[in-house]
Amino acid sequence: MTGEVRLTGGANPGFARGRRLRSTPAMRRWTAQTRLAPADFVLPVFVKEGISDAVPISSMPGVVQHTLDSLRKAAHEAAEAGISGLMLFGIPAEKDPVGSQADAADGIVNVALQQLRADLGDELVLMADLCLCEYTDHGHCGVVTPAGVVDNDPTLDRYAAVAIAQAQAGAHVIAPSGMMDGQVAAIRAGLDSAAFTETPILAYAAKYASGFYGPFREAAEGAPQFGDRSTYQMDPPNTGEALREVAQDLAEGADAVMVKPAGPYLDIVARVVDAVDVPVSAYQVSGEYAMIEAAAANGWIDRQRAVLESLTAIRRAGAGSVLTYWAVEAARWLR
Ligand code: PBG
Repeated sequence: MTGEVRLTGGANPGFARGRRLRSTPAMRRWTAQTRLAPADFVLPVFVKEGISDAVPISSMPGVVQHTLDSLRKAAHEAAEAGISGLMLFGIPAEKDPVGSQADAADGIVNVALQQLRADLGDELVLMADLCLCEYTDHGHCGVVTPAGVVDNDPTLDRYAAVAIAQAQAGAHVIAPSGMMDGQVAAIRAGLDSAAFTETPILAYAAKYASGFYGPFREAAEGAPQFGDRSTYQMDPPNTGEALREVAQDLAEGADAVMVKPAGPYLDIVARVVDAVDVPVSAYQVSGEYAMIEAAAANGWIDRQRAVLESLTAIRRAGAGSVLTYWAVEAARWLR
């Protein structure tokens, strides 16, 4: 037949095209549709009150609970490595039913924010995780009724107070992770009433009740003392719920949204990215980190390759920014 486009390249011409473009590292670099750069990453960090040296987290090799000083050093290294920001979690010495230390001006996370902001100015985006589970003696993300049920609306008042305290301390971004209904609206109203109208909210909008948070509970010492989080975090089989939570948070005034965990929820990342026009972050959580570290420590997988592949996959799904415990190390590899 004349006019037919002929694909040349051997017995199976149609299949040869992909191989031609993969023949050398330079060729693969040229054709890559997803690239990683240090600015893609945000590092979650833990700062603990009342310790004199950083404490290693056994289920997350390479991750520590920081002292104020070791955190400052880590923050400088993060800035040096070119990552975009830090997500701060505080672990107070004293916990109580309402999580008072979350909004105490001299509470550990607020002191850490003040110091980091003084040290670094605007060099990194300082994000404050806003939740009560690290601060309550019962380990739930909100206040609980005498019957032991998380009490949504009184929790919103606490969240607004915490948001104001964190913004006052120097947080650039407030990141509510407690999954209470109406939390973004309550926090926005609180921030605005305290003249923090310019402080954005990154909502942990689609946060699943996940088994992959296990190691984090050691890191942040925030495991629930009774029950679990399945009434306020999302159910893993569901997609529609994620899109509704995202839409709701945006309607309440969220400036950016997050999907969490990342790797097991890439379909959700992709659907959220398609559905919204605000920045979408994905949180590669503690269990995702621990699995690769454990397999690599056993010699079962190539650590660097698996780490970069996992991060590439999250970006390929469309996440604009990835929260990852490998942020600084991966950034250095990519320089
Ligand atoms: C607390 C919070 C959790 C994580 C981030 N914020 C734990 C949870 O919801 O139980 C998990 C992060 C990780 O596993 O790395 N609201």
